[in-house]
Amino acid sequence: MANPLNLREYEALARERMTGASFDYYAGGAEDEITVADNEAAWRRLRLHPRVLVDVSNVDCGTSVLGTPVAMPVLTAPCALNMLAHADGERGVARAANESGIIQVLSAASSVSMEDVAAAAPAGVRWFQLYCSRDRDVTRDLVERAEAAGYTAICLTVDVPILGRRERDIRSGFHAPPSIRLANFAPYAADALPAVAGQSGLAAYVSERWDSSLDWNSVAWLRSITSLPIVAKGVLTGADALRAAESGCAAVIVSNHGGRQLDSCVTSCDALSSVVDAVGGRSEVLVDGGIRRGTDVIKALALGARAVLIGRPYLWALAADGEAGVRRALALLQSEIVMAMMLCGRVAVSEIDRALLG
Ligand SMILES: Cc1cc2nc3c(=O)[nH]c(=O)nc-3n(C[C@H](O)[C@H](O)[C@H](O)COP(=O)(O)O)c2cc1C
Repeated sequence: MANPLNLREYEALARERMTGASFDYYAGGAEDEITVADNEAAWRRLRLHPRVLVDVSNVDCGTSVLGTPVAMPVLTAPCALNMLAHADGERGVARAANESGIIQVLSAASSVSMEDVAAAAPAGVRWFQLYCSRDRDVTRDLVERAEAAGYTAICLTVDVPILGRRERDIRSGFHAPPSIRLANFAPYAADALPAVAGQSGLAAYVSERWDSSLDWNSVAWLRSITSLPIVAKGVLTGADALRAAESGCAAVIVSNHGGRQLDSCVTSCDALSSVVDAVGGRSEVLVDGGIRRGTDVIKALALGARAVLIGRPYLWALAADGEAGVRRALALLQSEIVMAMMLCGRVAVSEIDRALLG
């Protein structure tokens, strides 16, 4: 399968190329992985109601996210340790995202430092995803570094007070090889994932270093230390989304962390419209989890999302063929989006409305 025809087909290639423990770390989720499976299934359940005899000879899937023009309503989700997939790592994703005209959201737990990722694709637009360290000085420094390196938003992940129980990682004793580090944390001597027999090294790291006391006051504090827009990632209820908007978040990402945190929680697809209704335009609403097809993207937009993020699909493509794999996967997704718009009788993203879902 040298030339995958769709995003799902990259997974089999990645499985061949990655170690079992790394593949399981990417693929897996919390406990019974009910939510991992549900996320994809929820998009599959929705049915489209296309309009016909619309002139679709000129379709444009471009839009803007927080004021940044993008070639399609897709961002790459923040995913830790891209170098487990390929030596190109986050640099390759940065270049592929830039060439595809989309925004990369870089994980705080990246295997290349935020400064080196920025240098790899200086023209690219990037957001920095933040995990708050117990040491507020470290968190403040991360935010200041992100600003200095040209990141245009801080994406605060709000669904990890503790790492979900990922049993594949416990079984494998998941840890990164010594050459792969949490590069952003090197200045604070906190860049190694410990190898702990019979435990997930990542879970041990998170419970030791990251702040489980985060609350809405922390969002206010974050706002006080940066002028960058703040995006709350990991919101699943209208009440929290409204609170985020009222707390000054410019956007919320409806997400259950790809089923890696609370197992059997609501899917992001099923939570989306209540979030959209609750925020009522006060902030932009993005969504991730289980997006695998252009039609999934159209469905998310029809439910009111401004854009979607994809996680595992770009990791699989990176594992399969490095930067070129990510570029090709993004091109495949873009052509699916354009085709879906043509077949739905919608020539612009702004025309994708709830009527499309019947
Ligand atoms: C291997 C892996 C690592 C991830 N690391 C992070 C992270 O560091 N920060 C974060 O906010 N979300 C992280 N996520 C969650 C993603 O940002 C995103 O919410 C999720 O992958 C979307 O679901 P999908 O993989 O089905 O597209 C990670 C997901 C995966 C698969």
